[in-house]
Amino acid sequence: MDAEPGPRHTDGAYDPDAVAKAHAIYTPFMLSFYDRIVHGLSNRFAWRCPTERLTQLYAANLSANHLEAGVGTGLFIERAGRAAFDRLVLLDVNENCLAVAGKRLARFSPRSWRANLLAPLERPNGLGASPFDSVGLTYVLHCLPGTMAEKLGVIDRLQPLMRPRGPLFGATILGRDIGPNGTARALLALYNGKGVFNNRRDDLDGLTRGLEQRFATVEIQTHGLVALFRAA
Ligand SMILES: C[S@@+](CC[C@H](N)C(=O)[O-])C[C@H]1O[C@@H](n2cnc3c(N)ncnc32)[C@H](O)[C@@H]1O
Repeated sequence: MDAEPGPRHTDGAYDPDAVAKAHAIYTPFMLSFYDRIVHGLSNRFAWRCPTERLTQLYAANLSANHLEAGVGTGLFIERAGRAAFDRLVLLDVNENCLAVAGKRLARFSPRSWRANLLAPLERPNGLGASPFDSVGLTYVLHCLPGTMAEKLGVIDRLQPLMRPRGPLFGATILGRDIGPNGTARALLALYNGKGVFNNRRDDLDGLTRGLEQRFATVEIQTHGLVALFRAA
């Protein structure tokens, strides 16, 4: 596992600037074209992972009692084709994402939970105390500051909210040992330079080991630079 320290203060808390840089980009204006840039163009030409694969991951694993962590615009929940939810909770540190996804998915009456995944999670009243049957975590890990070991602390905070058999699934863009094309190299440099991505040290081994330490069943597939995972 990567031994380099992440951006923590001596008290163990994350540098708030690094946390903010990873999500401050998601303004209402940016979110108005996010789907087209990320899932329309970048997935195809830079990350080389068909967006359809991500949609399939959601269609196969999204339950009627779902927690989506790092919701963005809510695209995959909409595209997964589920007709109804018993409970849908959208978690994000960025209120613009919660507003955009909440509006898009309004027909499912989602509940919003504003929280930082890098800090202890305290479930607000009104979200229900019972565990979730599935948890989604897509394109979040590569944004988070820290080493892969530190990022996977997010899963230690999400796991107690899940039923033991319920899958945690999602995807992340790897930054090491990945053979990026020119477009991917340019975007990785740009996004890591701005602190929107923090994935220079993220590799498949670290992700696999970290998930296997936490779950009995781990499935990981790579498409281009993207690792799609399902763990239960
Ligand atoms: C690259 S977007 C991915 C959005 C969506 N899952 C998708 O695949 O399109 C990353 C998301 O994670 C959220 N995020 C970033 N850092 C976070 C943190 N520390 N805690 C909670 N959410 C965070 C961002 O606000 C954003 O919604």
